[in-house]
Amino acid sequence: MHKVKIAPSILSADFGKLLAEVADVERGGADWVHIDVMDGHFVPNITFGAPVMQSISAHTGLFKDVHLMIENPDRYIEDFVKAGAQMITVHAEACTHLHRVIHQIKEHGVKAGVAINPATPAAAIREVLEDVDMVLVMTVNPGFGGQSFIPRTVNKIRQIREWANEMGHTALHIEVDGGITASTAKQVVEAGADVLVAGSAVFNTPDRAKAIRSIRDSLH
Ligand code: DX5
Ligand code: ZN
Repeated sequence: MHKVKIAPSILSADFGKLLAEVADVERGGADWVHIDVMDGHFVPNITFGAPVMQSISAHTGLFKDVHLMIENPDRYIEDFVKAGAQMITVHAEACTHLHRVIHQIKEHGVKAGVAINPATPAAAIREVLEDVDMVLVMTVNPGFGGQSFIPRTVNKIRQIREWANEMGHTALHIEVDGGITASTAKQVVEAGADVLVAGSAVFNTPDRAKAIRSIRDSLH
């Protein structure tokens, strides 16, 4: 089992001072930075694309975890690799040829993740489990920060960790995204998650170091 990583989502940061916001969570003890890309089609919200990401990339030492909530993600993989992505996660629901897209990501020498929405069963990614570095189990419906954690998703985390252990894929990361706070983190980690995305819980408070610490402390 990996050390649990905390990945603040910049969706809840102040976009007008993005570099300072990322630097703040880096100093505050974040492990990864989670970058939410939304296209207004796959999800009902629009954020930013590779050029904005590129302008942050060069200025942070955090591991860059890109969550593509977009249709036809295969068209943009190269752009995000060039923009500094180290992990690219695509939604199973957005890929007709999921296996192909995962291998396309890996061919660029970056890590590949697959995400599933709350209504998508774990079985949807079973056939690609051995191909991916990470499964992102959405714990809210993607599109917005600040929504409530959906408890049913915990069973899927447990199921996916069980399958990964059975197939000897012990390096698999399971990331959770949505409604993660000091009150919800422990149950997802106990179920097998090891990367915790937190948007509003970190950015909607002035002391980011304290917010990150309180999520970490809640795990004991
Ligand atoms: C939701 C995004 C999340 C979001 C999480 O669609 O993928 O990364 O920022 O925000 P919180 O932690 O506030 O639920
Ligand atoms: Zn996300």
